[in-house]
Amino acid sequence: MCGIVGFVGKSEASPILIEGLSKLEYRGYDSAGIAVMENEDLKVIKCKGRLANLQNKLNECPIKGEIGIGHTRWATHGEPSDVNSHPHSNGKGTVSVVHNGIIENYLYLREKLMSKGYEFLSDTDTEVIPNLVDYYYDGDLLEAVMKAVSKMEGSYAIVVISTKEPDKLIAVRKDSPLIVGVGKEEYFIASDIPAVLNHTRDVYLLEDKEFVVLTREGIELFTEDREKINKEIYHVTWNADAAEKGGYEDFMLKEIHEQPKAIRDTMTSRITLNNPVVLDKINMEESYAKNIEKIYIVACGTAYHAGVIGKYAIEKLSRTTVEVDIASEFRYRNPIINDKTLVIVISQSGETADTLAVLRESKRKGCRVIAVTNVVGSSVSREADDVLYTWAGPEIAVASTKAYVTQLIAMYIIAIHLAELKGSTKTEELEEIKKEMLKLPEKAEEVLKHKEALQKFASKTYMHRDMFFLGRGLDYAVAMEGSLKLKEISYIHSEAYAGGELKHGPIALIENGTVVISLLTQRELQDKMVSNIREVVTRGAKVMAITSEDNKNMEKIADSVIYIPKTLDILSPVLSVIPLQLIAYYMAKQKGCDVDKPRNLAKSVTVE
Ligand code: M6R
Repeated sequence: MCGIVGFVGKSEASPILIEGLSKLEYRGYDSAGIAVMENEDLKVIKCKGRLANLQNKLNECPIKGEIGIGHTRWATHGEPSDVNSHPHSNGKGTVSVVHNGIIENYLYLREKLMSKGYEFLSDTDTEVIPNLVDYYYDGDLLEAVMKAVSKMEGSYAIVVISTKEPDKLIAVRKDSPLIVGVGKEEYFIASDIPAVLNHTRDVYLLEDKEFVVLTREGIELFTEDREKINKEIYHVTWNADAAEKGGYEDFMLKEIHEQPKAIRDTMTSRITLNNPVVLDKINMEESYAKNIEKIYIVACGTAYHAGVIGKYAIEKLSRTTVEVDIASEFRYRNPIINDKTLVIVISQSGETADTLAVLRESKRKGCRVIAVTNVVGSSVSREADDVLYTWAGPEIAVASTKAYVTQLIAMYIIAIHLAELKGSTKTEELEEIKKEMLKLPEKAEEVLKHKEALQKFASKTYMHRDMFFLGRGLDYAVAMEGSLKLKEISYIHSEAYAGGELKHGPIALIENGTVVISLLTQRELQDKMVSNIREVVTRGAKVMAITSEDNKNMEKIADSVIYIPKTLDILSPVLSVIPLQLIAYYMAKQKGCDVDKPRNLAKSVTVE
């Protein structure tokens, strides 16, 4: 969503801020701006549109200074415009602020400030912050920021700069991520690690309501009661290149190709043959596992689709009832949950507002919560009782690919763990699953070799306005993910249906030339799916089938077939989703879409 960068040091701030913001472009934004202290004077340049527009403005009117803040905004309050862009300042131009999140009581604060003579220019909630800081300033900037924050309700990560104390930046977070980068005589603040990686790998991960003061001399951290905090540095092990395209045309294509590694990494040290799974951050007792009455898996978007697979896997292996729900629905329907309910939230970013709300509500009702997330130190990882990190590495493209397959691996790991604790599945069967899981990275490499065939298919079909995805059982869950991927990056309308549902309505839409992508990897359901495919072929559909390499019969029925290596039915989603990701990618490329930053979408949805 929005991105924040701040810098204090001995180099020119503007280029460092722009470069940092460029590393956050993947979060999605519609305007950008910076504020830099130039000779104790606060200079702000901001505008609607891409960072290039901001750079052009800066070229025309450079700002010289060694301390500053920057922001990329994704509109929430007020349309994308120059005036609504961040940084926002008070009327006198003595305080500037960048902010991620939403100040829920901003209308109330605005009225209060207006009654005291303050004027507002923008439609944003953020503009109350610099004015509040100005209102409370009485010779101590940290004190003023603390007082302002104590009046704010909602979520925020903010960085403040002021001419009153021109040598410092002050930042604080609540429910919105913020990290501090520690360099040599230079310090950074950012909403995400890639923004500072070109300068340092040593960071502090700020917790809610921790205040940080950055000056050229160093960093000081405070509680909201102004007590000093000593914090451990987190050393980032992945390098800046990991967050760059690495020779691929787009991040999405790079991330699709990183899947074999991501799958392997997520299993590393957790799955070994003839040993129970090892989960360092999940401490579940056998007695607890045996007493679970119900499991809820809750998430959004692609993470929800991973949850659907999780339901099949956990129910099959642990014989515990599992319900899967969309976080934005679950949180408002007063679900029946208690201390015998295990809630598993899945979130790549670990910052999705609805998912986080579910986590908090579940904990409030006494449930134990396991978070499956890709981001170390993210909000869900900190607030859950247990965490299972997916080690996919940073995912930059808005469309989730490698995070999804690692979420599937995480689901299998949890399913096996519960089965081991409950003794609900024979050891030999679990060992067989582990053995096959360890082969998945190589098999995923095999699937990637179908790229050219998939590209050809895309070049023939990308002009279609509608497509269908069909599957049964786990294949249906993968079909939903394939359909979402296609929609979000190629803007082609598509629907996923369970094969058995065809006759109940959707078959009415099938006509000559309709494209149907069907999945057939579940042996027990194969014959049923073949019947479904015959039904659509009879009505003129063009069918692509994705099936296991031992199912050569499909060539007689479908117009084209993509084979995936043989594996256990339960594990096939990890492989069968890859062709669907590539189909979506190549269709979008054919249409000339920006695959990494699809319109209207943001990588991390930190507001409702
Ligand atoms: O960070 P999260 O996993 O919580 O994000 C959830 C969804 O917003 C996300 O999966 C979204 O659907 C992606 N754009 C899918 O590609």
